[in-house]
Parts: sequence; C-alpha cells; structure tokens
Amino acid sequence: MKDLNFEEYEVGYNIPAKPGMSFDEIQTPCLIIDMDQLEKNLDKMQADADAMGMRLRIHGKMHKSADVAKMQIERGACGICCQKVSEAEAFARNGIKDILVSNQVRDPAKIDRLARLPKLGVRTLVCVDDPENVADLSAAAERHGTEIECLVEIDCGAGRCGVTTSQDVVNIAKLIDAAPGLKFSGIQAYQGAMQHLDRYEDRKEKIDIAVAMVKDAVQALKSQGLECDIIGGGGTGSYYFEGASGVYNELQCGSYAFMDADYGRILDENGVPISQSQFASSLFLLTSVMSHAKPDKAVVDAGLKAQSVDSGLPKVHGIEGVEYIKCSDEHGVIADPEGKLQINQKIKLIPGHCDPTCNVHDWYVLVRGDKVEDVIPVTARGLAY
Ligand SMILES: Cc1ncc(COP(=O)(O)O)c(C=O)c1O
Repeated sequence: MKDLNFEEYEVGYNIPAKPGMSFDEIQTPCLIIDMDQLEKNLDKMQADADAMGMRLRIHGKMHKSADVAKMQIERGACGICCQKVSEAEAFARNGIKDILVSNQVRDPAKIDRLARLPKLGVRTLVCVDDPENVADLSAAAERHGTEIECLVEIDCGAGRCGVTTSQDVVNIAKLIDAAPGLKFSGIQAYQGAMQHLDRYEDRKEKIDIAVAMVKDAVQALKSQGLECDIIGGGGTGSYYFEGASGVYNELQCGSYAFMDADYGRILDENGVPISQSQFASSLFLLTSVMSHAKPDKAVVDAGLKAQSVDSGLPKVHGIEGVEYIKCSDEHGVIADPEGKLQINQKIKLIPGHCDPTCNVHDWYVLVRGDKVEDVIPVTARGLAY
C-alpha cells in the first residue's frame, strides 16, 4: 500500500480512522473494506479468468484506487481500464503501467494529455469510433513523440459509443494502422446494457448477439490483414460468456471486487443471487445511529451525500428485521419495528451502486476482523475530466 504519513491527519477532521484502531473507533459515515472478502473476490475472478485462458484488465473506474488496482495486478491482471483521462493520469502517477481509457476522447486538450501518458512509462490505449478522431490522436502522439494504441469500439448492444457495422470497424482500423504515432490494437466490445438483467438466460441471449458481431468484425479485419491483439469486454454479470466465446481475449470486470446491492441481486445459472454464489460484498458504507426518537425508526448519519442511490437504496448488512427505507442529504432512515438498534450503533450498509458511491469518498478504511489494517486514498476520487 502507499505509505501515508498518518501524523499529518486528524481522525474525524480529515480521515475516518488510522491503522491499528478498533472498529468501534472508526468515524462515520465512511467506506470500509472487509479485506478477507475483498481478497476472496479478487482471487476468484483471477482464477476464473486464468481457467478460461483470458487476460483480466480490471475496470478501475469502479474503485478508483491505485492500491486496489495493484492488488489485482499482483494477482495476475494485465492492466486496468478507466473511463476518463483524469482517472488515467491519477492511476499512472500512482504506479499503474498499462491503462486503457475504455471510452472516446475527443476534446483536443484531453487528447493532448492522453498523448503525454506514455512519457510516464505507461502503455496507453484508447477507444475510437469515428474516423475523424484518428487524425487528432495521431497528431497529438506525434507532437509528443509517443505511441497511443487504439481499439475500435463496437456498440454491441449497450447503445452508447461505438460503430455498428464491421465495415465501419475495418475503415477506422485501416486509418489507425496507417496513422503515425498510433497502433491498431484490436476491438472494444463491452455489452453494458445486459449486465444487470436478473436472469442468466436473458444476459446470455444479449451476449450471443454481441459475440456474433465481434466475430464478424474480427473476420472482416483478418481479411484485410489486420490482427487484433486485444478483443476486450465483459463485466461481472457476463464474463463467463465472453470467456467461453472463443473470440474475446480480455475481460474488463470491475464490480466483482466490491459488489453492490444492485449487482448482488442478479441470478446465476441456478437462479441463485450472485452475491451468494460468486462474489459477496466487501465494500460497506459504515454509518452510526444518531436518533431513535421514534421507537420504530432509527436515523443514521449516511444520507445522499455519502452514497449514490440511483440503483436503489442500500441494504443493511448482518441485522435481520431492519430496512434502510429513506434518505435525505445527511440522514438515512432505517425501519426498526422491533427496536433492535441503539444510539451510536455502527451499521454496515451495502451500497446500492458502488461506482458513484466510491467517487464521493476520500478514503477506504481497510478492516480485518475487528481492527483497522490500513487507510488508503480513493486515488481518482471525483475525477471526471
Ligand atoms: C467499458 C466497461 N467495461 C467494463 C465495465 C465493468 O463492468 P462491471 O462493473 O459490470 O464488472 C464497465 C462498467 O460499466 C465498462 O463501462
């Protein structure tokens, strides 16, 4: 982990805890990571990727932490993805050496910053879905004397960026191949719209369409003498499909490391929620009860400013018969019909959606058993440029 000088921090004022503290001393609301569970999640995904003969390029946009990315790379991940140039810069400055911006970069200022990243010793990759983008990326790479690797992005069902025909893939790939400072490195094909579909069969149906599109594009590229080093995609809800496809060779899973309440609900092939059969939650929003003036309701200190509720409210972890039912800026209301909760009791919440929740915190408190093992920064916190 990055060596922080904890002397410079004051618990409560600018850091929620320090290493060696007991669980009860952690200041809330804050994000805590159950290290035993995190390690289990990381080990399982790496083992699954290895067993399928796939490279794992973990998605760093989820945790935004260089330290967690290093844990994933130590286990065998080939590098990371992120979504923004500013995230890439934060990871690069904190020691990550192989970074794909799995997104389009069009603003000339951002292209210029992207083209400087290889000077930090970073293999730099980006996605492209427009011939006009190629000239701008090439000019910036030439200006800085660097190389940017480009993946042509296919919209294989997510309805976001990406071209939709193999002919477009070939046209852009040829331009990249001929452009100074650029290298054609393959295809980006992440089917994001299906990851959260509950039923395994529904997710598989969508991925089959994506796989057919990708196969067609790879064939079309081959016929023009263009080989793909990377054919990337796959998330926590689908990676076994891409892994078995015979065409993808890199997975980009992100959420599996922490697992949020929304993702945890989707079902595996046996109809079991994946939070029970594959990856359990390792990230919790720790909150404290600050009012129980009404006998059937506890009010906690984690409201909207401590989490994103776009994918649903958080789930209370480990206490039966209580439910987080409402939140406002600084308050969360927990229904407690049996009056189980006490003032100052610390409660672990499983966030509804981990990515935007992590983005509003400065720190992760790493917990093992009853002790704070370490406190690490959310390296790319808030960065969206
Ligand atoms: C391009 C891309 N790849 C991979 C992922 C990771 O997916 P997940 O968090 O579902 O594992 C995402 C997440 O949104 C993504 O945008």
